Amino acid sequence: MKILITGNLGYVGPGVVGEFRKYYPDASLIGYDIGYFSQYVTNRNIIPDAGLTMQYYGDVRSFPDEILEGVDTVIGLAAISNDPIGNRYESPTLDINFKAIVDLALKAKNKGAKKFVFASSCSVYGSAEDKPRTEDSALNPLTAYAKSKINAEIGLRPLADKNFQITCLRFATACGMSDRLRLDLVLNDFVAGAIINKEINILSDGTPWRPLIHVLDMARAMRWAHERNGSTGGDFVVVNAGSNAWNYQVKELANMVQEIMPEVKVSINKDAEPDKRSYRVNFDLFEKLAPNHQPKYDLKASVYGLIHGLKAMEFKDSNYRNSNLMRLNVIQNLVKAGTIDQSLFLNQPQ
Ligand SMILES: NC(=O)c1ccc[n+]([C@@H]2O[C@H](COP(=O)([O-])OP(=O)(O)OC[C@H]3O[C@@H](n4cnc5c(N)ncnc54)[C@H](O)[C@@H]3O)[C@@H](O)[C@H]2O)c1
Repeated sequence: MKILITGNLGYVGPGVVGEFRKYYPDASLIGYDIGYFSQYVTNRNIIPDAGLTMQYYGDVRSFPDEILEGVDTVIGLAAISNDPIGNRYESPTLDINFKAIVDLALKAKNKGAKKFVFASSCSVYGSAEDKPRTEDSALNPLTAYAKSKINAEIGLRPLADKNFQITCLRFATACGMSDRLRLDLVLNDFVAGAIINKEINILSDGTPWRPLIHVLDMARAMRWAHERNGSTGGDFVVVNAGSNAWNYQVKELANMVQEIMPEVKVSINKDAEPDKRSYRVNFDLFEKLAPNHQPKYDLKASVYGLIHGLKAMEFKDSNYRNSNLMRLNVIQNLVKAGTIDQSLFLNQPQ
């Protein structure tokens, strides 16, 4: 079995490689990534990508067909992965997250791959706090990032057939420790602030709703998507990936961290512009389709995992919101250094 994972050198990727290596010890696992964040490994004593059979470096916007030779399943993680980058670099976000994903799926299908797993996002629901949204609910993508994910789902749909099964997993916001940690995710940010500054600084008024999922539970969901057969979900399925118990208001997340570290102060930005991105999500379909691959982590375990992981990496940066653990900062530094251009293409070394 041969599985290709694009965008594997980010936050979610190491857990996906670990999950597939554990369950498929003999599989050929191929990584493909441009490497924007590859050097930001959180623990010096590990080799995070050792589970791979082969790593390719390149841009998904010019994906070489030959890498797809013999590939059974493609897992499409490569993306501009949040709103701040998407807002600043809108056109490359659409090219990478939407056009390149659909092109990759078409190439994979033509090469005989059987399955395609796409990392979509619950952010497509945008402003939806009145009741939990199901896959059939109206969409309200508020940002370039959310629009790119919807466009990708729409573009992928016609490619699915009985020989090429597509699963779009609309993931909740990720949290938890990873070999390539990001701190621009709400719970991760709160735990980092609590540890280093004894303060959780909520950037909104605390009321927005965010469903969360542990990063390793995302990997489990992707394994389900790889393993499912057509009788579970059909040739093409879009499914919210997370759990009903994990719909939280941002201030509840802060309170939970404070419960574990009572010395921590929680400050709410009362003057913040209302964050329109607020959504509650219904995960019934995922529970029905994937009863054996449901999220296992709870919020407390995720917080403890982050505390342990941040301590192990000797995390000391009180100004971490300006650090390389924030995806936008890395991208902007790479642009400033001339390593990548404004379209986020690699500049050739002189
Ligand atoms: N983290 C979350 O909260 C979350 C939630 C829902 C969905 N997702 C999706 O899951 C996937 C992984 O997210 P993540 O948190 O690991 O993001 P990340 O930013 O940490 O990793 C994304 C990876 O994609 C690579 N990449 C970006 N553009 C590329 C290009 N042009 N060519 C090749 N590689 C490229 C980057 O180098 C990086 O390694 C993304 O598709 C993201 O949209 C993430």
